[in-house]
Amino acid sequence: MDEVENREIKLCCATFYESDLVRMLLGDVLHPGGLALTERLGRLMGLGPDQRVLDVACGRGASAVHLAERFGCHVTGLDYGTENVAAAQALAADRGIARLTAFRQGDAEALPFDDATFDAVISECSFCTFPDKATAATEMARVLRPASRLGLADITVSGTLPEDLQTLLGWVACVAGAGTPEEYVATLEKAGFAHFTVEDQRDALLEMVQDVRRKLLAVELAVGLGKLDLGELDLSEGKRLARRAVDLIESGVVGYGSLRPNAVRRGRFETCPYACAERTLRAARNQKSEFRRQDYSGEPGETTTRNPMTTR
Ligand SMILES: C[S@@+](CC[C@H](N)C(=O)[O-])C[C@H]1O[C@@H](n2cnc3c(N)ncnc32)[C@H](O)[C@@H]1O
Repeated sequence: MDEVENREIKLCCATFYESDLVRMLLGDVLHPGGLALTERLGRLMGLGPDQRVLDVACGRGASAVHLAERFGCHVTGLDYGTENVAAAQALAADRGIARLTAFRQGDAEALPFDDATFDAVISECSFCTFPDKATAATEMARVLRPASRLGLADITVSGTLPEDLQTLLGWVACVAGAGTPEEYVATLEKAGFAHFTVEDQRDALLEMVQDVRRKLLAVELAVGLGKLDLGELDLSEGKRLARRAVDLIESGVVGYGSLRPNAVRRGRFETCPYACAERTLRAARNQKSEFRRQDYSGEPGETTTRNPMTTR
């Protein structure tokens, strides 16, 4: 993918997630599972007061504000879309949490922060939209301090995506750019992360898509009755995509899950605050052949051989 294409995808994605239609369909929380899943991720990452957290591709700031309110940490949100950033700032001010939050426009593939600035990085439903995932992963590792945490929640795709979904709309709707859990793990390992815990949250995705389908029908009805004017916007592609998404989620091709590496390696130096606990946990668990609460542990490059989901 060349640089122009890369920029076009980011801009298109940001514009899409700033649009009135997306606001109508999703509200301010632009990921499956809502703030309950965000809070779960924050709890599992051990967020707490005095920590500095970065939310990469924070959208309209709902998760950042929630994490600051719930855990008392300082959260910086970064998003490509300037309108999203403004909405996030307004939300934080509205909720009286501006002193614990900061928002700025920027690119996940070139984070505007010094090395080792944050104690934790989260990114929800966004990694899949980044055209250059390897660079984004390296950037996340760079801005994290030693003994810090990463929590990603994202769309996953197993196998090859049908051709009709490999469109630009498919990309900004997080499907066309999504990878398998193994691919995400491999990309993150190359960036220096290790000791992964993976959770399947496919049900949350199904619920969100079903909800979007219901709302699309309501929007169509309102347009038909002349109560809503969407201008040139054609709802039919969105309806088709949502219908296809339900089929693909139900058949297991498309999913949603979180990945939490429990260590960041910098060169030969490894920081893994929970390495011993992880080893004990791993020993206690049976490795299942499905994508549900799995540990991916070991040396970079080893994961593919130990990972039971590996098809290679
Ligand atoms: C599906 S939304 C998720 C937003 C937010 N994380 C949430 O869960 O509510 C995807 C977000 O990624 C942002 N985005 C896409 N590419 C980006 C990039 N390269 N850098 C920063 N943000 C990006 C979009 O602007 C959009 O807000």
